[in-house]
Amino acid sequence: MQSSPAQPAFRECVDPALLRACFGRFGTGVSVVSYFYDGAAHGVTVSSFTSVSLNPSLLLVSLDRRSRSCQKLRNAHFTVNVLSADQMDLALHFAGRPGPGVDIPWADQEGTPRLEGAVAWLRCAPFHAYDGGDHVLFLGEVMACATGPGEPLLFQDGEFRRPGSLLSRN
Ligand SMILES: Cc1cc2nc3c(=O)[nH]c(=O)nc-3n(C[C@H](O)[C@H](O)[C@H](O)COP(=O)(O)O)c2cc1C
Repeated sequence: MQSSPAQPAFRECVDPALLRACFGRFGTGVSVVSYFYDGAAHGVTVSSFTSVSLNPSLLLVSLDRRSRSCQKLRNAHFTVNVLSADQMDLALHFAGRPGPGVDIPWADQEGTPRLEGAVAWLRCAPFHAYDGGDHVLFLGEVMACATGPGEPLLFQDGEFRRPGSLLSRN
């Protein structure tokens, strides 16, 4: 009988830079997760927004444990604002890289702040938070949502982009 190879004591680690590059090949939209904390509106830029379920209506955002938002978002209502291609300045602002003269178009809305000009927004009640390694996976239950005109902002290979050419039509 062939003996099975000895189990390594630790999992083999992949190179973090390579892992980041591979993750980055997967193009996404760019969203700002906005919420109230201590009576003030806050936001954090994320590319990790993912649809999860239609019934119940659930979405997911993954936040770095080291971010301030990760602590503040526990049990908080929040809104996912899907940014338009004209809102790169907001994406940078809420990623900790504020530019000069950026005007934040806050619109108050039923317990969570919202950003005017987003191509879609989804207002969520906290549903569950799961361990995700060095991130926390926040599931929100969508209580209200709307979509508007404009093209979404995209992020791929570490760069912001506009949508390119259409490959198929439904
Ligand atoms: C395009 C883009 C996407 C990002 N996506 C995420 C994400 O999904 N999760 C995350 O934790 N941070 C993400 N970040 C980084 C945060 O936006 C950044 O660390 C922010 O400053 C955290 O703010 P806070 O400490 O006030 O919460 C992203 C940054 C950029 C520019």
